[in-house]
Amino acid sequence: MPRLDQLLSSLGYCSRREARAWVGAGRILVRGQPADDAGAKALAADVNVDGAPLDHPNGLLLLLHKPVGLVCSHETREGPSVYDLLPERWRRRNPAVTSIGRLDKETSGLLLLTDQSALVHRLTSPKHKVPKVYRATVDRNFPADLGALFAGGTLQLEGEDKPCAPAELKIISPREAELTITEGRYHQVRRMFAAGGTTVLALHRARFGELELGDLPAGQWRELPPDFFDPRLAATPSR
Ligand code: URA
Repeated sequence: MPRLDQLLSSLGYCSRREARAWVGAGRILVRGQPADDAGAKALAADVNVDGAPLDHPNGLLLLLHKPVGLVCSHETREGPSVYDLLPERWRRRNPAVTSIGRLDKETSGLLLLTDQSALVHRLTSPKHKVPKVYRATVDRNFPADLGALFAGGTLQLEGEDKPCAPAELKIISPREAELTITEGRYHQVRRMFAAGGTTVLALHRARFGELELGDLPAGQWRELPPDFFDPRLAATPSR
C-alpha cells in the first residue's frame, strides 16, 4: 500500500511536501475521515480529495486522434506536443503518460497514450507484430510492382540491418493507398514509399491492432479501460 503523499504526487495532484499541507487543511479524507498523516499508508480506493475520488488511480489508457502539427515528445524544445492536449494533472503523473510508439509531427491519426510502461514495451515490441494501418497520399501514381515490393519481406531501408517484414498494400486510387505494417521503425511508412519511388504527402494512421478512431475528432481522445489489453491486470490494481 502506498503512502498518501506518494499516492497524491504519483497521480499528479501535488508534490509530497504539498500533500502535508493538503492534509493539514483537511482536504484529504480516508474512508470518510479527515487524514491526519500524509505519511500514512492508504488504498487509492479509500481516498477522497476535495470531496472527489482519486483520478484514475489504476492507470490511464487513452486513444487519441492525433492532429497534424504536434510531436510525440516530452521535450518542450521540440515544440507543441500531444501531451499539451491533456489535463495538467495527467501531465504531472509519475510514471508519466507516454505514447505507445510515435507518429511524426506531420502524421495524424490513432495514437495510444498510457502511464503503463510495461504496456508500451509490449505493444511496441516487433515480437508482438501488432498490425498498424496507415492511409498515405503520395505525389505520383503508384508503380505497378509496389504491392509486391512491400509484400516480399526483402525491402531493405537505408541504415537498417534487416529488411522490412512483409507489409500489405491496398491501393485505393492512383495516389492513395492503405499500408498495413507490423513493425514501427523510424519514419517507416514514408521511407518505404520513398524506396518505391514516391513521396508521401499526407499520412494518417487509421488502425492500431483492433482499434479504430471511428468518428473521434482530431485533438480528442477516448478512454479505454487500463486493462484493455490485459484483463489480468484488473485483479492487481497498481495503486
Ligand atoms: N511511419 C512514418 O513514416 N511516419 C509515422 O508517423 C508513422 C509511421
